[in-house]
Order: sequence, then C-alpha cells, then structure tokens
Amino acid sequence: MKILVTGGLGYIGSHVVVELQNLDFDVIIVDNLSNASLNVLENITSITGKQPEFKKLDVRDKNALSAFFKNHNDIDGIIHFAAFKAVGESVSNPLMYYENNINSLIYLLQNIEEKEISFIFSSSCTVYGQADVLPVTEDSPVKPAESPYGNTKQIGEEIIKETCKVNSNLKAISLRYFNPIGAHESAKIGELPLGVPQNLVPYITQTAIGLREQLSVFGKDYPTRDGTAIRDYIHVVDLAKAHVAALKRLLLNEADTNYEYFNVGTGDGSTVMEVVTAFEKATGEKLNYKFKERRSGDVIAAYADTTKVSETLGWEAKYSLEESLLSAWNWEKQVRKSDIVE
Ligand code: NAD
Ligand code: WQD
Repeated sequence: MKILVTGGLGYIGSHVVVELQNLDFDVIIVDNLSNASLNVLENITSITGKQPEFKKLDVRDKNALSAFFKNHNDIDGIIHFAAFKAVGESVSNPLMYYENNINSLIYLLQNIEEKEISFIFSSSCTVYGQADVLPVTEDSPVKPAESPYGNTKQIGEEIIKETCKVNSNLKAISLRYFNPIGAHESAKIGELPLGVPQNLVPYITQTAIGLREQLSVFGKDYPTRDGTAIRDYIHVVDLAKAHVAALKRLLLNEADTNYEYFNVGTGDGSTVMEVVTAFEKATGEKLNYKFKERRSGDVIAAYADTTKVSETLGWEAKYSLEESLLSAWNWEKQVRKSDIVE
C-alpha cells in the first residue's frame, strides 16, 4: 500500500511516517521545507532502516501537484499535514494562512476526488473553542473560530465533508488533535519550533536547558483546581498510531459512511502547574517559572472524551504525561548536543 504524507518532514508527520514504515507501508513524502529540514529524512531512515521516497513540492503549486499525481497514480491513501500552524501569526497574516491551509487542501482534493483514495486530515480541538461541557465529545458544537488558523481547520473539515457527500469514492477522516507533545523514543525526531516557542512544552524544555530564562505561566485565576488552565497533552507517538488506526479503517472500508471525525487525546486534562510538576518529577530538573496575566484567546479547559475513537478505531493513548515530558526533554537535550557539535 502506498501512502502519500504531505508535510511528512514536520513534527507530527515525521512520527507518522515512522509508524507507517514500521508496518511496511510504502511512504512518499511531499514537503516544501517551509518548517522542516532535510535532516529529518535521514533521521527517519536511521530509525526505520528504510528511506522514504521524498519530493520537495509545495502543495499550493497547483500545476506541480497535478504533475505529481500524473506520475504517481498508485497512491492508496493520503495523510495531509502540510499547513501553517502558528495561531498568533495567523491573526497578523490571515491571507497567508487561508492561502496555504485552504488552497493546499482544495488542490489535493481536486486531484483525487474521482479516485478511490483514503484521506486523513489534521484537524484540531481548537474547533470546539471553550466547550460548555467537559470532556469534549465529537457531538460538542463547533464554536466560531478564535483565529484564522482555527478557522482553516473548521473550513477544511467542511470542505472535506461536502466533497465526500458528492464523491462516494473518496473516503475521509478528520482527526481533531488535542495538544501533541513529546518525541520519538530514539530522540532522533521531535518538535523544532522556530524562534521563541509559543507552546507550553517546548517553552518548558528550552527553559530547563537554559535557552530561555523563565517560563511564564499564563493565568493563575482560572476556575480550575489550581487556577491554571487545563489541556489534554498527548504523546506524539500515540497520536501517530491513531493515524495508522484511522488509515486502516479507511483502507479496509470498515465504515458505513465515507466521512468521519474523531477526537484524539488521552481523555485526561492537566493544568499548566501539573505539567510543570510532572516535568520536574520526570526529569529531575528544577524549572524557573513565574505567573503572568492570562494569554489572550486561551480557553480555560479542554480535554477529550475518547469513547468514539477508542470504540471505533480500537485506539487509545498509552503514554503517561511524565513519559511524554521525559521524551520531550530527551529530544531537547539531543538537539542542543548536536548544535554544540556542529
Ligand atoms: P509542522 O509545521 O511541524 O509540519 C507541517 C509540515 O508541512 C512542515 O514540514 C512544513 O514544511 C510543511 N508544509 C507547510 N506548508 C506546506 C505546503 N504548502 N506544501 C508542502 N509542505 C508544506 O506542524 P505539525 O505540528 O507537524 O502539524 C501538522 C498538522 O497538524 C498541521 O496541519 C497542523 O495544523 C495540525 N495540528 C497541529 C497541532 C500541533 O499542536 N502541533 C495540533 C492540531 C493540529
Ligand atoms: C497550553 C497551555 C497556555 C505557553 C495551541 C493552539 C491549538 C493547537 C495546539 C494546533 C495554555 C499555557 C503556554 C507558555 C503557558 N494547535 N502556556 N506558558 O494554546 O492549548 O493550543 O496548540 O491546532 O490550536 O492554540 O497550547 O501549548 O500554547 O498552551 O502558561 O509559555 O499552556 O496559556 O493554558 P494551546 P499551548
């Protein structure tokens, strides 16, 4: 089976490629290297013992994409990660986000809509905004998006749903990720944020390694057990395995509908301070932090009800929060070690 992974050199994509290759899928990656480097290809090869096929391609390039599909008419499935993902940047540059995240999706679907191809879309728990009831089930309403980025995920899901309605050959699943963290146990692939990290866990690991002076904990007056905000942090390898489970369901035609969507989280919510404490416990490192004002746009709490994904895909998260944080720390140490060697 041949699987196309767009954005396959990025953080989540690279972990999915590893899982696919471990199960003997043939993988072809396309990535424009806008947020990844070619070293990732070598590192995937070193983990799996197999070099995935790679083509540098911008999915926004309609002509290049259709030429690619003409030369590759043996693709059974597509996992579509290629997108921009920085929420703040999307607010200051909305057109860049709509152009990349929406056009890429439309062009891909235009190339495959008549074919029998399985399609997986990277969506996000951001579609729920602040849910009225926790944990969040797939029946929770989708709330008006807080950012152009979030909007691209909502619109993306709609585009796929409506395309599936009129093309019964197309089979698709949207996975609504909660907060992916951590890295592969080899510490050869992981998350490499450009510049100052916006997300909690990379900020923690960069603070612990001395790259940042102090973690700011945004908000201590939330109506939660310790006043800090709650999220569902899922190990990226668990998340990667959820993609494989979804892909198998599509390839084996297990569903009685051609479009489905699932939450992918652990089912457990952790406060920011619980993450800080778990990091200190897992790594033995002391973290320098201070409390700051709430960050604008943040929800109070979001964690997944995982009943649908576990019953339908037979998938559940295996790694604990501490294991996930330790893997993030091992990756951070590995990255900085190679910086020094270079
Ligand atoms: P990432 O930036 O590490 O990976 C995205 C990859 O896509 C990068 O390698 C980048 O170079 C590539 N890319 C971007 N635009 C492209 C284009 N036009 N053509 C070809 N390649 C392109 O991001 P990630 O964290 O791995 O996220 C993957 C997907 O998951 C994204 O769609 C993101 O929105 C979604 N998602 C991420 C999170 C998260 O917290 N990381 C949460 C929910 C959803
Ligand atoms: C988690 C918690 C912060 C940094 C974002 C996107 C979302 C999804 C995942 C793609 C919050 C707090 C953070 C820091 C802190 N991405 N925090 N100090 O905001 O839940 O989700 O990434 O789809 O769309 O919005 O994740 O890691 O930024 O924050 O206190 O330096 O940590 O306030 O409560 P978030 P995050």
